[in-house]
Amino acid sequence: MEKIHNVCVIGAGVMGRQIALNGAVSGFQVALTDSFPAALEKAGAWAKSYLTTSVEKGKMTQEEMEAALGRLTVDQTLEDALKQADLVIEAIIEEEEAKRELFTTVSKVAPAHAIVTSNSSYIPSSVFAPLFSDPGRLANLHYFNPAMRMKLVEIVRGAHTADETIETLKEFVSAVGKTYIVVNKEIEGFVVNRLLRAVQDEGYFLLENGIASFEDIDKGAELGLNYPMGPFRLMDLTGLDINYYNRQRHYKETGDEADRPPRALEERFLRGDYGKKTGKGWYSYE
Ligand SMILES: NC(=O)c1ccc[n+]([C@@H]2O[C@H](COP(=O)([O-])OP(=O)(O)OC[C@H]3O[C@@H](n4cnc5c(N)ncnc54)[C@H](O)[C@@H]3O)[C@@H](O)[C@H]2O)c1
Repeated sequence: MEKIHNVCVIGAGVMGRQIALNGAVSGFQVALTDSFPAALEKAGAWAKSYLTTSVEKGKMTQEEMEAALGRLTVDQTLEDALKQADLVIEAIIEEEEAKRELFTTVSKVAPAHAIVTSNSSYIPSSVFAPLFSDPGRLANLHYFNPAMRMKLVEIVRGAHTADETIETLKEFVSAVGKTYIVVNKEIEGFVVNRLLRAVQDEGYFLLENGIASFEDIDKGAELGLNYPMGPFRLMDLTGLDINYYNRQRHYKETGDEADRPPRALEERFLRGDYGKKTGKGWYSYE
């Protein structure tokens, strides 16, 4: 790509480390940074182990692996990582104040031409637009978990986002081997998480009203609609805690009793049954 050579990914957690490695494997020079050195160390080790497995499985050669790891830098400070950036992808914790503080630094340190994006699932880039002298370069770039494997990226246009930024992001997403959809207006949950919420809401309605068990609702979605996973099985994978927090936040915003987290979800959340990661959620994995 002509306009983007250097990418700075901020936040080396579940999403950031995968977004960064995907960029490096696709030929971009990527600087991954995090406020916790231990997270960076872990991300570096993870990247090496992920690509080693790819080589073992015959998906890439040893030389390709070394070249990709050579393009990924994991030991820079935020300021150093930002200096060369043509594209910034923020993937830190989902807290507005933490992101605001970070974007204040980004607006001062990143090169004037750099496109600045947030991978946030729910916080739209317009929240940060006042921090930038040129908010035309700002948008959401929303990857899905696991970002090395998931094919889709949502490009979300804010009222402030320039057409040129959207075009460059489309090129970038294609260059990292993924498919984009453009969300033309900011809306909570963008497109995919809204679709997911609609299916989950109906699943909860059927469950809470005793119409069907969660196992049968999943079977209905999987065998009747050809979904790879029903809504409850998918929640076990993504985490009941995340689902609970998102619903709690939405409920606080609307104050509508209909948006209160469903009882069956709350019970499991309070027991610490978060899904696969704890060995139990809707289903048991012990
Ligand atoms: N997990 C998902 O399934 C998923 C999917 C799509 C989008 N997202 C979005 O991606 C973002 C990151 O989510 P995650 O699941 O990777 O979180 P995570 O908790 O796994 O990782 C967050 C990382 O950010 C680092 N961090 C925190 N504050 C920082 C700061 N000020 N500067 C630099 N680094 C900082 C933490 O040390 C941590 O390593 C969130 O905005 C989330 O909404 C998550």
